[in-house]
Amino acid sequence: MFTRAIVKTPAENFSSGLTTANLGQPDFSTALLQHEAYCQALRKCGLDLTELPPDPNYPDSTFVEDTAILTERCAILTHPGAPSRQGEVSEIRPTIGQFYNRIHTLTAPGTLDGGDICDADGHFFIGISERTNEEGARQLADLLLQEGYTASFVDVRPVPGILHLKSGMASLGDGTLLLIKELADHPAFENYQRVIVPAGETYAANCVRVNDTVLMASGFPQVGNLVERLGIPRLVLDMSEFEKMDGGLSCLSLRF
Ligand code: GLY
Repeated sequence: MFTRAIVKTPAENFSSGLTTANLGQPDFSTALLQHEAYCQALRKCGLDLTELPPDPNYPDSTFVEDTAILTERCAILTHPGAPSRQGEVSEIRPTIGQFYNRIHTLTAPGTLDGGDICDADGHFFIGISERTNEEGARQLADLLLQEGYTASFVDVRPVPGILHLKSGMASLGDGTLLLIKELADHPAFENYQRVIVPAGETYAANCVRVNDTVLMASGFPQVGNLVERLGIPRLVLDMSEFEKMDGGLSCLSLRF
């Protein structure tokens, strides 16, 4: 069960962050409204929120998930793959220190973004991507093993249009994974129940299971039906302005 989440309000220069999406400039006031609706959804799932103020020094820093891996046993601070984002980690460290005594830190030359890590009930899938290199993945796997968890690697570099592993998958809990078809046959997933995202709805693969509920992006009815058939209640959120900045639902919070 999650009881808390850390979120960070988008800064006014949010649109000057990194993106490859080619969907146009995000509208800042709409992004703020969508962010507030996201926070409300987390509260509705029973989470206590720590809301950090906007930081214009780091326009991507609303995507807090990339800075840390939070587990029941420890926190692991990342070393993000984009140089413009690496300073986000020291900014968030004091907040994580309010909740964790046991904090590990990944170090260069390893790089790793939290968006590449999918926690499937204590087994961690670690994506190797444009942002997470093999050294960063290895450092994280070693730390997770020391802490009593298990991990496996998934190389997403050959999959077009995928920034992070969780741009193409989500753990829905109870041994079920939501996967884009390009990832569905990866050997790391063979012992899981696999629900495949229909073509054209890739963005909806980035769902988040928060306790008994799945948060998902609006505008993806086929994935909505698939989740509904699993019997998991859904909260559907408009994510249009974050999608323009290569961001998904999971990126906007650290849940623990
Ligand atoms: N804009 C999110 C990222 O590229 O890291």
